[in-house]
Amino acid sequence: MSTRRTWVAMTAVMLGWVAAASGRLAADRGVEAVAPPRLSDTGLYADVATQAIDPRNRPFAPQYPLWSDGAAKRRWVRLPDGATIDAHDRDRWDLPVGTRFWKEFAFNGRRVETRMFWKATPTDWQFASYAWTDDQRDAMLVPASGLADVAEIAPGKWHSIPSEAECRACHDSGRTEALGFTALQLSDDRDPLAPHAEALAPGMLTLRTLLDEGRLADAPADLRTTPPRVAASDPRERAVLGYLSTNCGSCHNPASTIASLGLDLRYALGTTSACAPAAIATTAGHAGHWAIPTAPAGASRLLTPGRPDLSALFVRAKSRRPSSQMPPIGTTIGDREALALIEAWIAGGVPAAAACPSPVSMH
Ligand code: HEC
Ligand code: HEC
Repeated sequence: MSTRRTWVAMTAVMLGWVAAASGRLAADRGVEAVAPPRLSDTGLYADVATQAIDPRNRPFAPQYPLWSDGAAKRRWVRLPDGATIDAHDRDRWDLPVGTRFWKEFAFNGRRVETRMFWKATPTDWQFASYAWTDDQRDAMLVPASGLADVAEIAPGKWHSIPSEAECRACHDSGRTEALGFTALQLSDDRDPLAPHAEALAPGMLTLRTLLDEGRLADAPADLRTTPPRVAASDPRERAVLGYLSTNCGSCHNPASTIASLGLDLRYALGTTSACAPAAIATTAGHAGHWAIPTAPAGASRLLTPGRPDLSALFVRAKSRRPSSQMPPIGTTIGDREALALIEAWIAGGVPAAAACPSPVSMH
């Protein structure tokens, strides 16, 4: 705690003189590959003193948010003037160079960090995070290695700012860098059971407003007539699959570096499986590589319909031991609301799993 306080205070002083010379991340000056030293130089605010957001930065709220130990979040996107998003692939939008995203994290009413990433070239995104000063007036660029223990969020539990490598572990995997700004996440057909769903506020971008503003090029016509939603056997399953897609699917998908695990928890709109969604087809009845320590020999499965205690998917989502917790990064407190939902879904027998034949070979 004292280490980080000193760090932020010193940085604030040191940056006093850097400020004048620092480059703003302004679209009209091209796209920079280096993050400015202060959040106020990134173009997020029209006036940092009053916290007024630049109106070109549009707020949005994904329908399935990431659990970050209960942080209150605000998010904005800046699309370059006049540029469009190539939306022909409903699962992977190609955003224009210069697109910038910010996400603010607050605990107990105090801003703690604001994350940012931006598309610097057609193939490269840059990631950065800013730690808020104690006086809440501005936030300072955090080293690429991250910053540990920036805010106490529960007795003895601390929020840490991820390293750049950790940003990339979630955002780069599967090459879907923007995880909350997708057709499914912005769909106007919002899931009422999504854990920690944030209400849409006036002015927020949604799939509909992006279409209306002509921002989506080559979008499939049905995106307007039938806003995408997770197809599931019942409302609870819909919420579970959406939750797993956001909170687990950024790493567990067929295009990621850990694809060889065979676990696919990302919900893809473009693929319709003959039996069940990938999150069920790749888990129900599969043994997996990791065995639940408390399960009887040979009984551990990634998912055992009817038995949360024999389902590694649930056991590891519930765990907060560093060696077994899922996700492995970005959280130190379990998501009780989501765990209750997942537990009830598995205990209830996982309706869609019934449509899939049991796997013959174990993974
Ligand atoms: C555990 C996985 C994970 C880690 C680690 C992570 N993110 Fe994210 N991030 C997500 C997910 C999932 C979303 C979308 C859901 C949401 O915003 O609640 C997201 C959303 C964002 C957004 C809003 C744009 C978008 O993609 O929807 C920004 C900006 C962002 N993250 C920046 C960062 C930066 C910078 C880091 C590293 C300092 C980082 N993230 C680390 C998973 C992660
Ligand atoms: C930041 C990337 C990341 C995210 C996000 C993530 N995981 Fe994992 N997961 C891993 C890695 C890496 C492994 C392999 C190493 C290990 O088993 O610890 C793994 C392994 C697993 C395994 C064991 C697979 C097997 O074959 O035995 C399960 C089950 C699992 N994760 C479930 C989840 C669930 C459920 C979530 C969301 C609540 C999630 N993971 C989110 C990275 C991630």
